[in-house]
Amino acid sequence: MKFLELVNKRQSVRKYAPKEVEQEKIDTIIEAARMAPSASNSQPWHFIVVQDHKIREKVAKSTYSKLIPFNKFAKNAPVLIVIVMTNPKIITQLGGRIKKKEYPLYDIGIVSEHMCLQATELGLGTCMMGWFDEKNISKILRVPAKFTVGMVISLGYPAEGYRQRIKSRKKTKEIVSINLFNRKRS
Ligand SMILES: Cc1cc2nc3c(=O)[nH]c(=O)nc-3n(C[C@H](O)[C@H](O)[C@H](O)COP(=O)(O)O)c2cc1C
Repeated sequence: MKFLELVNKRQSVRKYAPKEVEQEKIDTIIEAARMAPSASNSQPWHFIVVQDHKIREKVAKSTYSKLIPFNKFAKNAPVLIVIVMTNPKIITQLGGRIKKKEYPLYDIGIVSEHMCLQATELGLGTCMMGWFDEKNISKILRVPAKFTVGMVISLGYPAEGYRQRIKSRKKTKEIVSINLFNRKRS
């Protein structure tokens, strides 16, 4: 698959088939994540692959509530990958403070997309979830205090008939300038 084809194919999948994900595929996804770049190569992450039914159910339940139910679909994902993040190298911490940038958040975004693209290439569906009860998830997964939960990614085979959506994105000319901000190509 050409890269842009893969990028277009990846979409948030919110309905999964009741089918296990092969361990080999999970390993490949983790390998794609491991190779992701990060500020100062800090790799400020740890990936918890949640497959155990009971633990997974508890984690899934920590991504939605009665009031905000939009992540309810997580209950039916056969795998949840919880990305926890920790402090980066001292140099990155210092740089981040000086420049007022949360570099680990950039890193988590990149590593998440590596996972999702790799999963897509393997015929799997994913959805990144940034909405969750951090305290609950940390407790359920016994995450040490020096880590915070950065992302939860659902993973599984898309449900039968799950359709490829047409991407809703801003137009190129809205998001690109040439040489100076908002200067457009004539
Ligand atoms: C940082 C981040 C957090 C997100 N959190 C959620 C979430 O909590 N629940 C959800 O259903 N989708 C979530 N998404 C998915 C976005 O809604 C989705 O990527 C976007 O609408 C574009 O659609 P697409 O992924 O199908 O191309 C998140 C995506 C990102 C990058």
